[in-house]
Amino acid sequence: MDAFQWLYSDIVKDHFTNPRNVFDPDKDGNFNADAEGMVGNIKCGDQMMFMLKIREDIIEDVRWKTYGCASAIASTSMLSETIKGMNIRDAYHIRPADIANKLGGLPENKIHCSVLGDKALRAAIDVYLAREGRAGEFNGEDAQIICKCLNISDKDIEEAVRQGARDWHSLQEATKIGTVCGSCKTKAEELLHEFIHIYS
Ligand code: FES
Repeated sequence: MDAFQWLYSDIVKDHFTNPRNVFDPDKDGNFNADAEGMVGNIKCGDQMMFMLKIREDIIEDVRWKTYGCASAIASTSMLSETIKGMNIRDAYHIRPADIANKLGGLPENKIHCSVLGDKALRAAIDVYLAREGRAGEFNGEDAQIICKCLNISDKDIEEAVRQGARDWHSLQEATKIGTVCGSCKTKAEELLHEFIHIYS
């Protein structure tokens, strides 16, 4: 048995070997997305793009593209299947832990690979809302964006702390926060210490 077989659930293996809704420029050249979201930086090794077709706030179709490992590909594939037919408000509030559960879990050291898909999805929905004259409509509901480069909110920091992040390095491992321009670090560290105080 090789490492790939025992590290990953059958669902992860299925989505990694047969990823759904991947953007293929040959087949999807006329996809005509209503909104696109991109997060990450290829210089840092990870980049994620989401393209959405939306009608009356329902996600009708989706395409995505990433440079990532098995966990990133399987997570984004599952996320793309999950949001088809979903209201954009519900899709906006999906978190990496929801997708990891649907995949039957991910290896502990691979969780950090699965955290860009939901951010790119939210970035695309934000673009759609802005085009509709509804900018920021969902932000105030339960999340404040702390890292603008990666679309990471206070809820993501809270979730990382709940999952065990206890310092800047482990928070970055869990979320990739601050890995582009770094200007969010002060605010993010304040929140990190607040949540550690709450959850430790
Ligand atoms: S705002 Fe967080 S890395 Fe730029």
